[in-house]
Amino acid sequence: MGTPVTVKAKVLLVDDEENILRSLRRLLADEEYEVLTATGGEEGLRIMTKEPDIGLILSDQRMPGMSGVDFLEKAGAIAPDTLRILLTGYADINATIDAINRGGASRYIAKPWNDNELILIIRDAIQKYRLIKENQLLKELTEKQNQELKKWSAKLGLAVQQQTVDLEKQNVELTRLHERLSRNMKAMIAALSSLIELRDVTVLNHSNNVAYASVALARGLGLDAVTVESIEIAAHLHDIGKIGVPDIVLLKNKDEMTEAELEEYRMHPVRGQAAIHFVEEFNEVGLFIRHHHEWYDGRGFPEGLSGSAIPLGSRILAVANSFDRLSGRVGGPDGPDVALGKMAPLVGKQFDPQLFHVFKKTVREIASTMSASENDAAEVELGIKDLLPGLAVSRDVRSGTGLLLLRRNTTLGAESIGLMKKCLLLDPSKTGIFVWHKRTEVRGSKAADQGSG
Ligand SMILES: [Fe+2]
Repeated sequence: MGTPVTVKAKVLLVDDEENILRSLRRLLADEEYEVLTATGGEEGLRIMTKEPDIGLILSDQRMPGMSGVDFLEKAGAIAPDTLRILLTGYADINATIDAINRGGASRYIAKPWNDNELILIIRDAIQKYRLIKENQLLKELTEKQNQELKKWSAKLGLAVQQQTVDLEKQNVELTRLHERLSRNMKAMIAALSSLIELRDVTVLNHSNNVAYASVALARGLGLDAVTVESIEIAAHLHDIGKIGVPDIVLLKNKDEMTEAELEEYRMHPVRGQAAIHFVEEFNEVGLFIRHHHEWYDGRGFPEGLSGSAIPLGSRILAVANSFDRLSGRVGGPDGPDVALGKMAPLVGKQFDPQLFHVFKKTVREIASTMSASENDAAEVELGIKDLLPGLAVSRDVRSGTGLLLLRRNTTLGAESIGLMKKCLLLDPSKTGIFVWHKRTEVRGSKAADQGSG
């Protein structure tokens, strides 16, 4: 708030005797007031209506026409803040009382007055008037500023509300975008994973099975969601480096390979890492892929790392990879025990003993839940047009040329049905889509044999 405004006050002198007006003027000549004079009440009121800032009226009581008290009363109606003083003769006690009660006078002065005393009284009155006016101005200013503040705070409130709404919208949009990106990424990974399988037809669905078993083991170990996701992606893509290995090498067993072919084969984890190296988010995934053929005792490749020097994700992949190669697919018809039995002698050599222990438990739990739920359901073959969201496919869904479109036991959604329709239109399959139906719902449908895929 700035310095209070100084109000230059005006003094109005009212007396029918010109010589009194003159002597009062003289008295005030050295003061910084604007002095106005009137020779009667009527003239005084006219001046009052024209001059807004009269701080003090000094009025005689005895005047022809209008008395001083009547004049002060009317002047008070025009300017209530103006201070009023009545000049009275010595015997005019009634007029004095009236002046105070009715005329709103702050005091009276008896004639003849003492000049020094009168000037002090006038200064004092003007000072009071100034204070009243300054207070009023400050009050108005404060009021105005308060109004302004209220307006601003209302505007600010609206702006904040608008921003909150905008941010919420942006958040929804970002979440949608993120979900879309993540869906696209998963679709890309699935597509890459299918390509690997087309390259190495001896191991149909291998990447998916390794991913399934790796995720189960990672969760069994209590790893966080981000790491589990990296492991899942690494599992899908772990053999992506085989795309560069010549057919002649790929189709051989390892013990039939020449030294040069073995060397070529052993490059696939490094090539796999290099292949996804350009995706920054996949740095950890790449590391898991690079070391998925390391052995716990250090006799693996490409680096010959051992023990905990091998990334945990790679050790998990190694267990899941061998498990599937040994035909022990989780939930598969043979159950897991055959593969686990074949792996047992290599625990502590190829596999991390601690991981193997957890894996055994996890795999058996999953296998028993799966067989229980599958005993409860039967397979039905449906045309692509008859698929409904919520149904789960009972066999892998592949395109006519063998590209994996959906994994067994995946529950259908509107989106996956749409994608499948598109793919099958380009590359039609010879069979329908096999889905699970609860046994009680199968009556009348064409039930297919159970347990394939
Ligand atoms: Fe491999």
